[in-house]
Amino acid sequence: MSHQRVAILISGGGSNMASLIDSMSGDHPARACLVLSNNPQAGGLQKASERGVPTVAIDHREFGRDRAAFDAEMLKTLLDAQPDILCLAGFMRVLTEDFVNHWQGRMLNIHPSLLPKYKGLNTHARAIEAGDAEHGCTVHEVTFALDDGPILGQARVDVRAGDTPEALAARVLKQEHKLYPAVLRRFCMGNKDPVLLP
Ligand code: GAR
Repeated sequence: MSHQRVAILISGGGSNMASLIDSMSGDHPARACLVLSNNPQAGGLQKASERGVPTVAIDHREFGRDRAAFDAEMLKTLLDAQPDILCLAGFMRVLTEDFVNHWQGRMLNIHPSLLPKYKGLNTHARAIEAGDAEHGCTVHEVTFALDDGPILGQARVDVRAGDTPEALAARVLKQEHKLYPAVLRRFCMGNKDPVLLP
């Protein structure tokens, strides 16, 4: 059986990326083919190398404000690696419509909130400030609208009295590491029913 190929886009530490790579073994229908970062200093690049996955860094700063040129360079690099599926894992760049359209139905993202709540940044602080009893994370298909698109899975976390954004983020991240691999495995099998954890 030939495996589906998954490329993972990161900007930082890459803990979600590592959990995705580690999940793609044994009878899993996919394998990681490339890790791409817009940040050459991203700690995740070393984690990917340690796991034997090829890495590329394309520094977005070299493209100034030209998002289209940056995305075109990413697309060229990705096409060489021939991925079937793209996973955004802490990738902190807004993508152009052309790029999103190219991967339509084949690009996933993980976002640290229970979407549609708290699109964008500082999600943990916003959940605490709003007095929410629960918070969590969402994996969704990427469409051109930011942090939108069909929801493929969610994991919930209780907000505790006295929680700081950092403490809450750490508990959500643990759930992210369970949710994203679970969603990817099902997605690879053509199943888009939402995965609900815990
Ligand atoms: C994760 O919490 C992910 O949900 C978030 O960035 C973190 C990356 O951590 N993504 C976003 O905020 C996207 N808008 P990681 O590099 O350790 O996986």
